Amino acid sequence: MEKHVDCERILFDTQLLAERIKEVAECINKDYEGKEPLVVCTLKGALIFCSDLIRSLTCPISLDFMKVSSYGNSAVSGELHIRQGLSTNVTDRDVIIVEDIMDSGKTIYFLKSFLLREGAKSVKTVVLLDKPERRRFPLEPDYKCFEIEDEFVIGYGLDYAERYRNLPYVGILKRSIYEKE
Ligand code: IMP
Ligand code: MG
Repeated sequence: MEKHVDCERILFDTQLLAERIKEVAECINKDYEGKEPLVVCTLKGALIFCSDLIRSLTCPISLDFMKVSSYGNSAVSGELHIRQGLSTNVTDRDVIIVEDIMDSGKTIYFLKSFLLREGAKSVKTVVLLDKPERRRFPLEPDYKCFEIEDEFVIGYGLDYAERYRNLPYVGILKRSIYEKE
């Protein structure tokens, strides 16, 4: 695989991503047997992960999208806002939130509370990547594909300033790219 010039190191290549996502999908398939969960894909970062994951799910699902972001670029302190809401009624639904990465945990904490307030019967979370060192909110993902160190990663949906989402692997972004700005 040809590495992008801004990528320091490839962490998970296409094949490894595909294998691990299938394994996680198997766990979800067991847990949701006989159920019909609503999969909520968070935009934009989880798009590629979610599209691969759901193709390995065997239970019937519905799919919806949510976009949340904070005002400005404030990391942990900024208040989160729903930029794009659901078009599905979540009352009494078993919801699975699909997110690209759990960092501080703020996004998923916010989404989970929102969905429970809206009347979801259950809410579980599945993340492609987990950066446990950076956690500030009291929750853990129910399913995760990979744990990573505190590094800024790009590719397979994840961006830096909206770039690199289309890389078919997950890699570490060179420090020179974000330190020069
Ligand atoms: P949290 O709300 O602090 O858990 O942050 C989650 C969000 O921050 C993710 O949905 C990503 O959009 C973004 N994020 C955190 N770490 C990275 C990274 O290493 N690369 C790209 N985006 C990241
Ligand atoms: Mg995101």
